Amino acid sequence: MSTIQTSPLHTDFAVQVHANIPDILEDPDAIQQLREIWQRSPVMIFRRQSLDESELVQLTALFGTCDKSVRKDIQSPYHQEIIYFSTLKYADGRYIGGFAGGEDVDWHSDQTYQLRPATGAILYGTEVPRDGGDIYWANQYGAWERLPPDVQQLIDGRTGTFRYAKRYALLNTLELKDKSKANALINLPDAHHPLVLTHPKTGRKALYADPTTLVAIDGLTEQESDDVLPLLFEAGGHPTLAYRHKVHNGDMMMWDNGCTMHRRDEMRLDQPRLMKRTTFRLAPDQYCLPQA
Ligand SMILES: [Fe+2]
Repeated sequence: MSTIQTSPLHTDFAVQVHANIPDILEDPDAIQQLREIWQRSPVMIFRRQSLDESELVQLTALFGTCDKSVRKDIQSPYHQEIIYFSTLKYADGRYIGGFAGGEDVDWHSDQTYQLRPATGAILYGTEVPRDGGDIYWANQYGAWERLPPDVQQLIDGRTGTFRYAKRYALLNTLELKDKSKANALINLPDAHHPLVLTHPKTGRKALYADPTTLVAIDGLTEQESDDVLPLLFEAGGHPTLAYRHKVHNGDMMMWDNGCTMHRRDEMRLDQPRLMKRTTFRLAPDQYCLPQA
């Protein structure tokens, strides 16, 4: 059995994985090694891959059940498991997939406003702008460790209130200016998730406090909550915890939203971009899930 090699990109939370995905899709030992690497290092970067869509779907299914419900309007015409983000257009003038605009995107964790967030994510850069658009991930185990003991004690075991309307007001990207889509999301009921997630395999604790959706700490007064939330947000996006990735064509990035946050730099719209994305549900005995 060959051992998959990794190189650290930032402490032990972000690693480059030295594997050619199509070579290992049919190799259960290699896939098991990847699962274990991912439990320790929630950001895995595979550089310069050449994957077709069925291979991307096959890889995703080895880690969890694909979330097919999200964003039907920006799905791949070939695989409903995949969504596109792009600056490119079809011949009839429609954008290929979601067009988010070039503005930067602040620190967040995906789907935190959902009652049951799907926390597994793969982003595959088929065609990537040469300038701008760097992606950053922040280690939320490190964020937990940065918090003062009294704040740790206050939030451990508590849930928070996560609301889509906050993200809408903060980010308000071009794509979200479509009122019918926005209204459907803004009317979602609040979600309540634990503010601290414990990884079932490693026992490590991670802060789960998405600044774009978290509006209150449950059980505290409004004043107490308003005093503590900025401390959580500051810890979560602390520069010492962040790995910055300059994305090249073919890079495949895989992350666990239960113990990381991510953000993106501003990017050029006059350069071609086609990113392919899968979102999937992880097993609660294998990865840390935001389940109250
Ligand atoms: Fe995201």
